[in-house]
Amino acid sequence: MIVLGIDTSCDETAAAVLSDGRSILSNIVASQLIHAEFGGVVPEYASRAHIRTIQPVVEKALAGAGIGYDGLEGIAVTSRPGLVGCLLVGVSFAKALAYSLDIPVVGVDHIEGHVFAVRLAEPDIPLPTICLVVSGGHTELILVEDWGRYRTLGRTRDDASGEAFDKVGKLLGLSYPGGPIIEKLAADGNPAAIDFPRAMMKRGNLDFSFSGVKTAVRYRVDDLETKLKGDELADFLASFQEAVIDALVTKTMWAADAHDVPSVCLGGGVAANGPLRARFEEEAARLGLVAVVPPKDLCTDNGAVIAAVGDSLFSRGVRDDASLTVSASREAARARR
Ligand code: KG4
Ligand code: ZN
Repeated sequence: MIVLGIDTSCDETAAAVLSDGRSILSNIVASQLIHAEFGGVVPEYASRAHIRTIQPVVEKALAGAGIGYDGLEGIAVTSRPGLVGCLLVGVSFAKALAYSLDIPVVGVDHIEGHVFAVRLAEPDIPLPTICLVVSGGHTELILVEDWGRYRTLGRTRDDASGEAFDKVGKLLGLSYPGGPIIEKLAADGNPAAIDFPRAMMKRGNLDFSFSGVKTAVRYRVDDLETKLKGDELADFLASFQEAVIDALVTKTMWAADAHDVPSVCLGGGVAANGPLRARFEEEAARLGLVAVVPPKDLCTDNGAVIAAVGDSLFSRGVRDDASLTVSASREAARARR
C-alpha cells in the first residue's frame, strides 16, 4: 500500500510517502525558522506557516517518490497530541485530499509515530521492548508489547527532556531549539565538571523530572558575573546534558530489567543527541540487550513514521471519516475513540 504521512503537530511541516509499511520513498521536512527570535514556538505563527507550506511539502514528497496524487492509496495524519491550530491544518488538508481522491484517511497519535521510527529502522527488533520517547513535549517510557499494544510505565512529572534543553538554551541566551546547539557547544566539555541534580533516582521509580536541573541551571546563571563562554560554557553544558542523559538511560535500563525484555529502543527529537545515543547503546550492550537507535532523521518529527503507523492501522481495518478531529492531549483523544 502506498501511504502519504503528514505531520503538522508543532513547528515542522512534514510529509512522506511510504510503500508497504517499510520502504520510505520520500521524507520531506520543512522547519519553521521564524520561532528562533522568540525563543520558542509561537502557535499562531506556526499554524499560519503550515497553511503556506503544506501543499508544496506534500507535492515535493510526491515528486520525490516519483508518483502523482493518483498514486496514493491512503493518507495518515497526526491528529494528536500537539498544538491544536497546527494539527488542524494537517488534518483538514488530509481529509480534503482523501475525500477528493476517494481513498481512506486515518488519524495518528504523534507519540506512536515516534515509537514506529524503531519499527522502520529495525522491523525485526525482538518484542516486547522498552521504548524511551524523548521529544520537545513528551518524555515517556513505554512497554511495547506488540506494535499497537502499549503500556506507559513512566513519564515526566514536569518538563519534557527536550523542553529542558530548550529552556536551558534560552537561559544561556542560545537560539531555539536549544537541544542541537547545546550538543554542539558541549562537545569538548567535561560532563563531570558540575554535579547537576538528577531527580527521582530511586530504583523502581520510572517517572522523570527535569524542573530541578533547570532551576539549578537558572541559579548558577543568576550568580554569574560575566557570561559563560569557551571551555567554561562547554563544561557547563556538557554537565547539564550528562544529568539529563543519566536519568533517561538509567531509568530505561531499570524498566528493561523490571519487565525482563530482550531489547530497548529510542525515539523522539532528543534521540538525535549523539551522547545520549552512545550511552544508550553502551548500557544496553553491558546488560546484554539489543538496542535499536533509529537514524536521526526518523527520530525528529517527520511524515515517514506517521505513514508507518497509518499503514499498520489500515492493515487492521482502522480508518477515520470526515468527523476526524484534533486533540491537544493524548488522553482526551483516547477517551473519545
Ligand atoms: O520530536 P521533536 O522533533 O518534536 C516534538 O515532538 O517535540 O523534538 C523536538 C525536541 C526539541 O526540544 C529539541 O531541542 C530536541 O528535540 N532536540 C535535541 C536534539 N535535536 C533535537 N535535543 C538534544 N540534542 C539534540 N541533538
Ligand atoms: Zn515529536
